[in-house]
Amino acid sequence: MKIDKACKKVIISEEKIMATCKSLGERISKDYEGEEVTMVGLLNGCNPFFSDLIKFIDLEVVVDYIKASSYHGTTKSSNDVKILKDLDLPVSGKNVIIVDDVIDTGNTIKKIMEIFKVKGAKSVEACVLLYKETGDETRYNAKYVGLTIPNEFVIGYGLDYQEHYRNLPYIGVISDELVKGEDN
Ligand code: IMP
Ligand code: MG
Repeated sequence: MKIDKACKKVIISEEKIMATCKSLGERISKDYEGEEVTMVGLLNGCNPFFSDLIKFIDLEVVVDYIKASSYHGTTKSSNDVKILKDLDLPVSGKNVIIVDDVIDTGNTIKKIMEIFKVKGAKSVEACVLLYKETGDETRYNAKYVGLTIPNEFVIGYGLDYQEHYRNLPYIGVISDELVKGEDN
C-alpha cells in the first residue's frame, strides 16, 4: 500500500500539530519559570512530538528517554508495565515531565510516573499530544494534553500500526483496508 493511502481520514494536519507543540511548550515554560526540567520521552511513540515540543520550551531542559512495554486490551495484566530501557540520568530532586504520543488507557504513563516518584523526583507531570475519548473518566489524565481525539485507531507523527507509519507528518484514522491486512 502507498503510504498516503494508509489513512482513511486525516484528523490533525501538520500545521495544527506544530501549533499544538508551540502552545504546550509555552505553557510548560510559564509553569516552570526559573526552574530546570527533565523531559523524558517515552519511546518509540514520543518522537517526533518530543523533538518538536522541546524546541518551544524556553527553560533549562535536560533530555532523557525511557522505553516500556505494556500489555492491555483483553489481557488481565493491564497494569503490567515492563521497563525495556531505563533512564540514563538520575531524576532524584528533578522536575520531570514524561512525554508520550497518546493516552488510551493511561496505564503506561501512570505506572512510569509512579516509578519516578519512588526515585525521588521533585515533581512529576505528563505531557501528551493526544487524549483519546474512550469514555473512561476514571483513568489517568495528563496535566498537559495537546488535543482530544475520538476513540479510533490513529497513525502518523510517531503513532504506529505494527511499527509502521510513524513517519507520516500528520495524524489520521487508519484505513479499513490496512486493518484487514490487505495489500501491503
Ligand atoms: P495506554 O495509555 O497505556 O493504553 O497506552 C498508550 C500507548 O498505546 C501509546 O503510547 C501508543 O503506543 C499505543 N496506542 C494507543 N492508541 C493508539 C492509536 O490509536 N494508535 C497507535 N498507537 C496507539
Ligand atoms: Mg505504540
